[in-house]
Amino acid sequence: MIDVKRTILGLLMPAAIAVPAQAQDYPAKPIIIVVPAAPGGPTDTLTRVLASAMGNAMKSQFIIENAGGAGGIIGISKAAKARPDGHTLLLYHIGMSTAPALYRKLPYDTLNDFDYIGQVADVPMTLVAKKAMSPSGFAAFLAHIKANRDKVTYAQAGIGSASYLCGLLFMTTIDTQFTQVPYKGTGPAMNDLVGGQVDFMCDQTTNTLPQIKAGNIKVYGVTTPARLASLPDVPTLDEQGLKGFNLVVWNGLFAPRGTPKAALDKLNAALQAAVQDPAFKARLADLGAEPVPPAKATPESLRTLLTAEIDKWTPIIRKSGVYAD
Ligand code: MLT
Repeated sequence: MIDVKRTILGLLMPAAIAVPAQAQDYPAKPIIIVVPAAPGGPTDTLTRVLASAMGNAMKSQFIIENAGGAGGIIGISKAAKARPDGHTLLLYHIGMSTAPALYRKLPYDTLNDFDYIGQVADVPMTLVAKKAMSPSGFAAFLAHIKANRDKVTYAQAGIGSASYLCGLLFMTTIDTQFTQVPYKGTGPAMNDLVGGQVDFMCDQTTNTLPQIKAGNIKVYGVTTPARLASLPDVPTLDEQGLKGFNLVVWNGLFAPRGTPKAALDKLNAALQAAVQDPAFKARLADLGAEPVPPAKATPESLRTLLTAEIDKWTPIIRKSGVYAD
């Protein structure tokens, strides 16, 4: 008589033993990080700095795959549908939390189609304009763009992106709408801003600081409650009259749902090492950004943040009445 139970166990046992072998063999090839934005922009820049630090920690190769467009939806969806074997990850930001309110039909489930690795870094934003923008002070700039609202153009990276969100908050706060020019990321938008093809933008310091320091663009304010160490002479929007204006772009590292725990554990350990890595910290400081403390570079912390951010931005976006689809 066949002992069904033993046979099943016998069949299962070899597979269970195999898992540690998989853990040992992971990663078995370079790890792809999908960036839902164009090359050369803030998210691409942050991901490349992170990939270098995590690569050192894991003694593994990371490859960046840019999939920009639709405010990040194309890249997020690509990562959600990737094979959950630990070799495809996603680095994205606050845009993860705006999409659920902006899209009636999202091609993925924001909270449940991903495994979480941890938060990575917080990036302040700056209100910047083309060099030829005549007004020097914020008050004069505000008066100028309001007086020319039909002509002035605002660059952003698509509905739901960080630059879109900052624009939404700014335009709502000053009660003035401008023509918005969408790009696949603020990397290409910055090229047009430096070239004077578009008038102004709100973008992350990881993209704007080098251009501000080089004198290629003008800066009118920062979106944080306090001034930035990297831009001590640039006032906050809050201190210039936009009371309570506060927007910092959080960034998180995700994997497709079902990624083996052993792989997630190795990735989290490498992320923990990266956020404490002096070279990583120094590079981010140069770009006006801040790595999160180790306590935030955890799956639980990222999931909690994403849930809270969806709850925060959904009513604001609903009130704006904007849908992306
Ligand atoms: C980018 O890397 O282009 C940005 O993150 C886009 C944005 O969200 O504004």
